[in-house]
Amino acid sequence: MSEQKKQSTSGSADSFRTRAIHVGNDVDPTTGAVIPPVHFASTFEQPAAGEWGAFDYSRSGNPTRSQMQMTLASLEGAVGSLAFSSGMAAIHCVTMMLKTGDHVVAGCDLYGGAYRLLHKVCNRSGVDVTLVDMTDASAVSEAINENTKLVWAETIGNPRLSIPNLRELADVAHGKGTLIGVDNTFGTPVLIRPLEHGIDIVMHSATKYLGGHSDCLGGTLAVSDQSLLDELYFLQNATGAVLDPLTCFLVSRGMKTLDLRVRAQSETALKLAKWLESHSRVSNVLYPGLESHPQHLLACDTFEGGFGGMVTFELDGTIEQTAAACGATRLFRLAVSLGAVESLIEQPATMSHASYDPADRARFGISDGLIRLSVGLESFEDLKADIEQAIG
Ligand SMILES: Cc1ncc(COP(=O)(O)O)c(C=O)c1O
Repeated sequence: MSEQKKQSTSGSADSFRTRAIHVGNDVDPTTGAVIPPVHFASTFEQPAAGEWGAFDYSRSGNPTRSQMQMTLASLEGAVGSLAFSSGMAAIHCVTMMLKTGDHVVAGCDLYGGAYRLLHKVCNRSGVDVTLVDMTDASAVSEAINENTKLVWAETIGNPRLSIPNLRELADVAHGKGTLIGVDNTFGTPVLIRPLEHGIDIVMHSATKYLGGHSDCLGGTLAVSDQSLLDELYFLQNATGAVLDPLTCFLVSRGMKTLDLRVRAQSETALKLAKWLESHSRVSNVLYPGLESHPQHLLACDTFEGGFGGMVTFELDGTIEQTAAACGATRLFRLAVSLGAVESLIEQPATMSHASYDPADRARFGISDGLIRLSVGLESFEDLKADIEQAIG
C-alpha cells in the first residue's frame, strides 16, 4: 500500500504549536506510551500472500516515518509529506521529474549544494538551468521558456537573505504552465507556509530548524496536490533515499519545539542585526527585519513570528581578514549548517557557497567579506560580546 495515502492533517483546527506536539504523536495503543515507539523493523508480516497490510517494507513505508511526515504535513498545510535521507535527496527527488531538454529557472540566491546539483548533475542528463533574481517576478517570467518545467526558489535566499514574493512567483509560474517549488529551510513553517501562497512543493533540509539540534541529517517535501505527492512518492520509493526511523524520531522531537525556538532565535537575530548595523567594521547588514532590507515590507506582510534566525553581514576587509574573524569567535562555532540551538558562523565564499563558479559568486554578491550567522538560543548579550571580540 502506498504509505503517503494514509497521511492526514487531523487536528488541523488546533494552533500550530499544539499540532506540532500532537499531530502524528498518538498514544501507543498497545502500551499506553505517550510517545510513539520507534519502529526499526525493515519488513512487516502480511495477512496473506498477495494481500498487503498497512506497511510491507520500510523503504516503501515505515510507521515512525509516517508519523513524522504527518506532523510536517500539518505544519505546512499539506496533503502529505515525504521524508528523505537529506535535504539534497529531497531536492534531487524533485529534479527526477525532469527529463532531457527540460529547463529550470532557479534563484541566484541559492544554497551552494542546490546550485551544484542543478549545474553539475542535472546538466549531465541535458537539463538546462537559468539563474534569476527571484525578487523580480518579471525577470522570472522572462526567463521561463517553452521547455521550462520547474521554477525553484528559496523563501529566504542563501546567503543574502533575499525574500521573493511567493504569490507573484506562483502566479507567474502557473500562468506559464510550470511547477514551482521552494526551499523553506531558512523560513520554516513558523514564519511562512508557501503552500498557502500557491506554491506547489515546499522542501526542507530537516537537518536545520526542523531537527534543530545539529544531531541529524534529513530532508522533506510537502505538497498540496495528491497526484503530485503520488509522483514524488513513486520516485522516492523507486530510488530509495528515505529517512531512517531513528532520525525520523529526532526530527519529530525537534518539531515539537520549532515554534518556540524560531521565535526566540528571531528575536535575538533582530537585536544582533540592529547592533551590527551600527558597527564601524561592518559595511552592510542583510536581515529581513531591518528597514534597510530591500524586501522588509514584504517580510512584514507575509512573515509571522519574526524574521528568522539567519543574519548575513559584510565586513570591511579582505577574504583572509574575514576568515580570521570567523575563526575568532568563542560561542559561534565555525561550521556550515544552521538552525540549531547553538550559534554558528561561516564565510559563504569559502564554505557554503564554495561550489559556485567564482564568476557567479561575484555576479550574485557573494563577496569575500560576507559572513553568515545562524543565531542559536544563547543570550543576546553573550553572542554580541562574542562577535564584538572577533571583529574588533
Ligand atoms: C537552504 C538549504 N537547502 C538545502 C540544504 C541541503 O540539505 P542537507 O545538507 O540536509 O542535504 C542546505 C544545507 O545546508 C541548506 O542550507
